[in-house]
Amino acid sequence: MLACVRSAAVFGIDAAQVNVEVDVSYGLPGFTMVGLPDPSVRESRDRIRSAIRNSGFEFPLHRITVNLAPADVRKAGSSFDLPIALGILAASGIVRRRDVDDVLVLGELSLDGAIQAARGVLPIAAAARRRRFRGLLLPLANSREAAVVGDLEFYPVQSLTEAVGALNDPKPVALCGDSHEESTEVVHGDFADVRGQLSARRALEIAAAGGHNVLLAGPPGSGKTMMARRTAGILPPLTFDEALEVTAIHSVAGLLPAGTGLLRARPFRAPHHTLSDVALAGGGSIPRPGEISLAHHGVLFLDEMPEFSRQALEVLRQPLEDGLVRIARAQRTAVFPARFVLIGAMNPCPCGYLGDPRRACRCTPPQVDRYAGRLSGPLRDRMDLTVDVTALPPHDLTSTTGGESTASIRARVETARSRQQARAEVTGVSVNARLPPRALRRVCDLDRKGERLLRQASERLGLTARAFDRVLRVARTIADLEASPQVAVDHIAEALQFRGT
Ligand SMILES: Nc1ncnc2c1ncn2[C@@H]1O[C@H](COP(=O)(O)OP(=O)(O)O)[C@@H](O)[C@H]1O
Ligand SMILES: [Mg+2]
Repeated sequence: MLACVRSAAVFGIDAAQVNVEVDVSYGLPGFTMVGLPDPSVRESRDRIRSAIRNSGFEFPLHRITVNLAPADVRKAGSSFDLPIALGILAASGIVRRRDVDDVLVLGELSLDGAIQAARGVLPIAAAARRRRFRGLLLPLANSREAAVVGDLEFYPVQSLTEAVGALNDPKPVALCGDSHEESTEVVHGDFADVRGQLSARRALEIAAAGGHNVLLAGPPGSGKTMMARRTAGILPPLTFDEALEVTAIHSVAGLLPAGTGLLRARPFRAPHHTLSDVALAGGGSIPRPGEISLAHHGVLFLDEMPEFSRQALEVLRQPLEDGLVRIARAQRTAVFPARFVLIGAMNPCPCGYLGDPRRACRCTPPQVDRYAGRLSGPLRDRMDLTVDVTALPPHDLTSTTGGESTASIRARVETARSRQQARAEVTGVSVNARLPPRALRRVCDLDRKGERLLRQASERLGLTARAFDRVLRVARTIADLEASPQVAVDHIAEALQFRGT
């Protein structure tokens, strides 16, 4: 008896349909799987046998052959347990349909027949809708995530028995995908908590407004981490499409907490400098997203940036240029989006106290040079803004009042971003940081004084063409924050101030 159940495999943040064909025929009892399954699929054999028995069904003592097709789609993970088990039960007549072609099925089984949460449910639900399936049979724990995709009938189940019931006697469940919205101030902390640090706050506001990368240089305890985290909160709220992408990435990475619907807060990722380049950029035999993709549409904070290995910093370069990362595998290349605001932090010297009034620096000048040199070249070239942060004296920490709140900074950022969005038709990009040189000139209407200042500075400082463009991009953002169509001399002057050495 032949039965067929439809499922899907995730690759990158997309899902491809996989047909689970099950044949149960007379012969010596056996259970084989074909279709290039990953070792984890082979392991599922034992789980499936136990789950079927422990759910009170009979496990057929015949020859069972399972084929996962097409063969060239790489299958991993355990979410084929449920479709295979249902296929076996369909071939032996317990599920009363031989060909389940209108409902996509996924879920991992435990030995007792319970169904566990799966990775990548959002991309699979999206694929189900794209391929015009009527419904989705899925683990109950993933239902909020799946419900983000509309126009599908949902069959959330907790056990194999329930899954059999859902196919024999379908009763779709209406799901509500909207998770409660937590305000970004709660998630990331509020900028009002940050005292002083006007220059760093300003740089971070500009960075958020124009999508620029920032380097914060300052001693330990000066608030770099604190301010970086809050920068995610001053970015405008995610649009629905952005939220879909962010949620899909976290879903594929297996980092979506159970019961989560759409992720609404901008991501903030702060990987440690000892992290491997694979964990940073993504990888694995079945490619999984790395930190740079988990930071997509949000903030990637690299604390103690010079301590990252050369290899790790190297893998950052291309994504910083392209906004995505490609992971090549034998059959296909996975593409993960990776567009983020990069905030790098470094100490002014290896001991951290160079120029700090609180404590004397113990480093020799060559040590200081070597430390700064580790961030040289191409990567520094991609930092649009550089700020020296000094620690607030203890007295100021208690006496100065906090600064402007996240909500009020965000309002300005949103205005600046909508101005950039309005120009997108001309420029082809949505933020100034990504303006290609040609488009940059077209949207920077410099006043005469501005023109002169920029030319003088460029000669005096020996700016490269790249550095020149960087100043101009930042100046464009500063003008946008003031809702000024023209880029004026003040904007250029401020942008020059944030130029790194
Ligand atoms: N400007 C500031 N305003 C308020 N608190 C601050 C400020 N700077 C530092 N702090 C306090 O010091 C702690 C350490 O700051 P942190 O952001 O970790 O510094 P860094 O990352 O530069 O080492 C913060 O959690 C905060 O409590
Ligand atoms: Mg820190």
